Amino acid sequence: MTERSYVQVDNLRRVFDVSKPWLNRMLEREEKQFLKAVDGVSFDIAKGETFALVGESGSGKSTVARMVVGLLPPSAGGVTIDGVAMAGRTDAAQRQRLRRRIQMIFQDPYASLNPRWRVDRIIAEPIRAFGLLEDDAQIRNRVGELLTLVGLHPDDGRKFPHEFSGGQRQRIAIARALASNAEFIVCDEPTSALDVSVQAQILNLMRDLQDRLGLTYLFISHNLAVVRHMATRIGVMYLGRIVEISGGRELFLAPKHPYTRMLLDAVPDVGMSGRQRIPVKGEIPNPIHPPSGCTFNPRCPFANDRCRREIPPLLGGVACHAVHEGRITIPAAA
Ligand SMILES: Nc1ncnc2c1ncn2[C@@H]1O[C@H](COP(=O)(O)OP(=O)(O)OP(=O)(O)O)[C@@H](O)[C@H]1O
Ligand code: SF4
Ligand SMILES: [Mg+2]
Repeated sequence: MTERSYVQVDNLRRVFDVSKPWLNRMLEREEKQFLKAVDGVSFDIAKGETFALVGESGSGKSTVARMVVGLLPPSAGGVTIDGVAMAGRTDAAQRQRLRRRIQMIFQDPYASLNPRWRVDRIIAEPIRAFGLLEDDAQIRNRVGELLTLVGLHPDDGRKFPHEFSGGQRQRIAIARALASNAEFIVCDEPTSALDVSVQAQILNLMRDLQDRLGLTYLFISHNLAVVRHMATRIGVMYLGRIVEISGGRELFLAPKHPYTRMLLDAVPDVGMSGRQRIPVKGEIPNPIHPPSGCTFNPRCPFANDRCRREIPPLLGGVACHAVHEGRITIPAAA
């Protein structure tokens, strides 16, 4: 790629030490145990785009998100946002300046909103912390503006978080993220706790804000249906790796990886025209002792000896031997 993307995630890895305490290990004669939560993940996000990461629980999505925003140091690999490295000794001063422009939205807005503060104070906090406005009247105006922007009333600022519904609280969390004039927002399951109809309203709001403000999103969900109308590009994660990455439309029309097809089979409203249905069952294996070769092999109807031996590389946007060998037919994208 010649033009540098706004967000670049390069071969990101994160290992957690999940060993028992030393004494237990000695008594039970156990080795230290390590869990590869993220195992070589790479993707780019262009400015104004939405990149979605999708996968079942435990696939490493939140760990990627935390490394991207600089909350968690990677074990290897790196993240660059607008040319600034998010970890390491270089760029510390630039990173500090970049912080304001990156915000995160979580699944449970209630946990991230201070229950003892009124909403106007919650939203004003980043404005004060980053010294964006000094004058109280200006700050009050700006908070009212932000509340209106997310579909609430300026008077709602006088209330406390518990006086709002789940969807309204997520609107407050979005207003707070925008208060610092953020341009890149990492959304970790932002609507998973909400009713379907409320989910749609929040997703519409986020898309609308993206259009108006030119926001860039990293959008995380376990549900492909949710990212369908949000994502420009989608990365499908399984046990710490991206197994398929492609344009949002393409992924739905011509999914390649057996795991992607399995996830799509669980999405009720997707037209399944002409593609092989793949009945895959089973659970995600223990990530401390992942299967050898392709980690999806115990659940995959196409698995053979090579699959159990060799980790498939991500080639042409898909990490699957059967696809690379032409053992699986892929419907052409319409
Ligand atoms: N601090 C930690 N210490 C040890 N293991 C961790 C830690 N954080 C995450 N893990 C493990 O790393 C793996 C990936 O977790 P992660 O939370 O990133 O998954 P996820 O895709 O976000 O799942 P979910 O959909 O449930 O949120 C899991 O096996 C998890 O148990
Ligand atoms: S590499 Fe083999 S086991 Fe893995 S998804 Fe492809 S066919 Fe299935
Ligand atoms: Mg998570």
